[in-house]
Amino acid sequence: MPTVVFTDSEGTCHTVQAPVGRSLMQVAVDNAVPGILGDCGGACSCATCHGYVDSSYLDRLPPRSETEVFMLEGVPDLRENSRLCCQIRMQPELEGICIEVPAEQV
Ligand code: FES
Repeated sequence: MPTVVFTDSEGTCHTVQAPVGRSLMQVAVDNAVPGILGDCGGACSCATCHGYVDSSYLDRLPPRSETEVFMLEGVPDLRENSRLCCQIRMQPELEGICIEVPAEQV
């Protein structure tokens, strides 16, 4: 099964298994990764699943939807590699993807 690595701002890694088709927010919540809350259940309306995606994976992701862009505008530290984890579904080509959890969420 593919894996995802969530890291916190202090560099602590949480390597978890990610079933293909499951959102990265769901994967984080399933594994109690600190700082990824998923308060809206994946409806793209809370931004509590914000993470910074390893830049080498960005071109393998679907583009941000208008709704995701709108929600990201409200996060404290928006970066080029900011994504909402509920909007990314695990795919085999994302094996090993690394997501940094923003410091203010942990
Ligand atoms: S879980 Fe709410 S926006 Fe992702």
